[in-house]
Amino acid sequence: MVTGTSRVFATFGNPNLGNPAPAVYNAAFKAAGIDAVYVALEPADIGAAMNGVRHLGLGGGTITAPFKQEILRHLDEVDGKADEIGAVNVVVNRGGRLVGYNSDWIGAMNALREVVDPADRPVALLGAGGVARAIAFGLQKARARTVIFNRTWDRARDLCAQFDCAYGGDLDAVEPGFDVIINATSVGMGDQLGPSPINDEPLTSTPVVFDVVVRPRETLLMQRARRFNCPVIGGIAMVAHQAVPALEWLTGTTPDLAMLRERFG
Ligand SMILES: NC(=O)c1ccc[n+]([C@@H]2O[C@H](COP(=O)([O-])OP(=O)(O)OC[C@H]3O[C@@H](n4cnc5c(N)ncnc54)[C@H](OP(=O)(O)O)[C@@H]3O)[C@@H](O)[C@H]2O)c1
Repeated sequence: MVTGTSRVFATFGNPNLGNPAPAVYNAAFKAAGIDAVYVALEPADIGAAMNGVRHLGLGGGTITAPFKQEILRHLDEVDGKADEIGAVNVVVNRGGRLVGYNSDWIGAMNALREVVDPADRPVALLGAGGVARAIAFGLQKARARTVIFNRTWDRARDLCAQFDCAYGGDLDAVEPGFDVIINATSVGMGDQLGPSPINDEPLTSTPVVFDVVVRPRETLLMQRARRFNCPVIGGIAMVAHQAVPALEWLTGTTPDLAMLRERFG
């Protein structure tokens, strides 16, 4: 129940109305007995929105596209790991000072580790955008042998230099032999069953296939991977895992992962 003392948190993105996070985070507050409410906001200007957080004394919240990079210059402090990744997806209002964190890399690594430890394994990471940056950081920390495949070489080059990865070429250059294939592109995303980012050949060596795309819940890549008996991880696992540290930073309370996974699913 919302009361006169409820703390207010929000997800900030644009477009953002219809984001499932408020339903899930409000359920987590209820389960933990936290007097708080979570809403979806769609600011045109993330800097102005952060001033609003300061002036209204909101608790902070989660940041989604297209603001994860731009928001860094509107914060008072950025956690070292988020700074290295170059993206913030959680902002905590600590007594009027806005502090930015990144939980995407933690979510991705914890979802992956449910199935395989990537240490010293060959990993194909598809994509060089915001999510790929967070995952490349996590894979470097995990000491994986990462090869990046991306349509645009310029973006991949920066990522390879920063996170100690090799560049493998465009998406159609992925070959069999990787222990893990991670799709961190937006190919396959959308209301309809979209295309698969790679052809079937790399699946013949039965790698673990991890698709970060959340909608559809079961992408064409995941369906094809199952046909080759590859272990499969979906984007919902990453969303649920990243919400654990996000809620810890925002409220100081650890939520139940199983509940988050069920609600996001
Ligand atoms: N599961 C989660 O927790 C979670 C969290 C956040 C986002 N996501 C999902 O992650 C995906 C990527 O998000 P992002 O923020 O990283 O996006 P982004 O920064 O815009 O990057 C998009 C990436 O996809 C590639 N790409 C897009 N269209 C392509 C096409 N037609 N052919 C080949 N490559 C293409 C881009 O390649 P170029 O560099 O060549 O343009 C780039 O590497 C989205 O589907 C998003 O919904 C999942």
